[in-house]
Amino acid sequence: MKLAAVILAAGQGTRMKSNLPKVLHPIAGKAMVRYALDSVRALGIGRVALIVGYGAQQVRESISNLPISNLQFVEQTEQRGTGHAVLQARDLLRGKADTILVTYADMPLLRGETLQRLIDLHASARATITMLTVRSEDTMGFGRIVRNKRQRVRGIVEESDATPAQLAIRELNCGVYCFDARWLWERLAKLKPSGSKREYYLTDLVAMAVKERRKIESIMLDDVSEVIGVNTRVHLARAEQIARERINAALMEAGVTLIDPATAYIDAEVEIAADTIIEPNTHLKGKTRVGANCRIGPNAILSDASIGDGCEIVASVIRESILEENVHVGPFADLRPGTHLARNVYIGNYGEVKNAYVGEDTHIGHFSYIGDAQLGARVNIGAGTITANYDGTKKNRTVIGDDAFIGSDTMLVAPVKIGARARTGAGSVVTKDVPDDSLAVGAPARVIRKLNSAKAAQ
Ligand code: UD1
Ligand code: CA
Repeated sequence: MKLAAVILAAGQGTRMKSNLPKVLHPIAGKAMVRYALDSVRALGIGRVALIVGYGAQQVRESISNLPISNLQFVEQTEQRGTGHAVLQARDLLRGKADTILVTYADMPLLRGETLQRLIDLHASARATITMLTVRSEDTMGFGRIVRNKRQRVRGIVEESDATPAQLAIRELNCGVYCFDARWLWERLAKLKPSGSKREYYLTDLVAMAVKERRKIESIMLDDVSEVIGVNTRVHLARAEQIARERINAALMEAGVTLIDPATAYIDAEVEIAADTIIEPNTHLKGKTRVGANCRIGPNAILSDASIGDGCEIVASVIRESILEENVHVGPFADLRPGTHLARNVYIGNYGEVKNAYVGEDTHIGHFSYIGDAQLGARVNIGAGTITANYDGTKKNRTVIGDDAFIGSDTMLVAPVKIGARARTGAGSVVTKDVPDDSLAVGAPARVIRKLNSAKAAQ
């Protein structure tokens, strides 16, 4: 069986009341449309056509850097219904596959295994249409599956077009189907506008197949959470909660401790190694990676951070930063983009670091700002030390050598270089480079003498 997929993502999502195309709204930090793409990719489906329309350019851009081969965008310039949307992929896919899987990009929680079951049944039954249905008391605005007395499928009616008797039906259309490709491409063109909105409904193909006495198969789910269609912000929040529960369950399964899973907010693409402990109210966002044996939180917010084994992060914010092993951060530290902390670095309370490399075993204990800097190994940064990196027009660098000792409240007026093993006195304002093994004091600081350590080293 040669399989291709069509994913519908052209709608605006009017009910979201948003300028952002619906399928770009994130769930657990990942755009909705990515869930659909990732699940068809996991199945190894050869060709994937993504139907875009509203905000097409934005949708394309947001996924153009994904490593999906054979993904093609097809533009549906006017949104005239789901049947019309699938028809747009005909020229691209006709003759290229014998089975077409159709899914909607607004169902982020659908599991790959469920799609696989649908595909398998479609193949073994040699059906014309195989569809996914769900039984649920909450009808979520879904189309109803109409069956006859012998329980054979007769058709799908949209909620807005249903009679009161049909509205009482609790078997719902999930919006996921396998079609015999040749049949699909030929019949799609025969769809007539339907319902009050005069749209071309993909779902009308079911009644067409019934009339032609074609074989229709279905799989009925009983877990409605998988097929929540996101049409409103309320659905979005529900999907978010379920996605997070799944992520957290998988992490615990893999050996990560979550002290309070209800307040561990972990995005879909985050990776955490075993024996790490996530304390309450911890947010791990984007592509954050956390090593083994770490303790993160409480009250930590990490985005796109890479954290080595054995780190401890308490009540701090970390963005786009790299921490090697056994680093301690916090409480109340702010590590901004471009921070790289080598092994065993210690950042205490109210430390801010930005665009800086901090060498092994260096301590920045209290109230410091280190920006646009390169710090060596075993440096001690006294309380209140500031790199004055901005002169009003541009950012300048501070370089501090290995084993330097920076006295409390030192102002390092960049560009400036502090030599290896040099010391600065408390409160000094350093405007000129300090050579290796020297002591500088005052405001502006003057080098007053070579240090004894220098003699010892000679
Ligand atoms: C659709 C189904 C309904 C099903 C429900 C499940 C139809 C007619 N109805 O209703 O039976 O219970 O999904 O979630 O299929 N789209 C396009 N182009 C269009 C119209 C829609 O690409 O011209 C896309 C949308 O972006 C969306 C998907 O198709 O991703 C479904 O459209 P939507 O308007 O959400 O359909 P529902 O009313 O939810
Ligand atoms: Ca929908």
